[in-house]
Amino acid sequence: MSRKRLGILISGRGSNMEALLKAAQDPAWPCEPVLVLANKPDAGGLEKARGFGVKAVAIDHKIFGKNREAFDRAMNETLEAEGVELIALAGFMRVLTPWFVNQWAGRLINIHPALLPKYPGVDTHNRALAAGDLVHGCTVHQVTAGVDEGPVIGSAEVDVAPGDTEVTLAARVLKAEHVLYPRCLASVARGGGTRVRDDVVVEGITVRVFAPRA
Ligand code: GRF
Repeated sequence: MSRKRLGILISGRGSNMEALLKAAQDPAWPCEPVLVLANKPDAGGLEKARGFGVKAVAIDHKIFGKNREAFDRAMNETLEAEGVELIALAGFMRVLTPWFVNQWAGRLINIHPALLPKYPGVDTHNRALAAGDLVHGCTVHQVTAGVDEGPVIGSAEVDVAPGDTEVTLAARVLKAEHVLYPRCLASVARGGGTRVRDDVVVEGITVRVFAPRA
């Protein structure tokens, strides 16, 4: 089976990107990362990606001022030039225009640090703590026009521990993200599947994964 050419969009440190690049080292994983694109020239993930031998470029959104679509069109051109077939948003902190979302419909995937539909948007860990939630986690979903609203591909839960702070809870959820994202992307690349539950232990943390088996 030919691997799908994957583009990864980032804005920062790129730990989810790194999880995807590590997954791609297994030739059986059905995506081949061909481009990492950041909207910030100082995104730490760019150097990390180059360390994996993956082409990594920045397109500074500030150059485009308020013209969001012009920025999205510039990204689109770069993605198409690399023959990208599937896009993973990995901590990409820009809202995409309806034009871009429509262009990539069904091929544009995001990871969100909450159990959607709970807590779309930002500050998810503090909101989960303030609500007294005992369970928190992350969701991988298709990107549609509404922010954090598209169809769910998979999710992963972790327990909230007594005394958790935003920092400790975010770190635990991040471990779950790194398990969930490669698995969900593989399932998208293979054409989908039924979600099943698998409990996995990562560095002592139990993660309940609900996703298609890739
Ligand atoms: C992750 O929590 C992701 O879910 C959210 O932004 C964060 C990015 O972290 N969309 P990283 O850059 O992947 O480390």
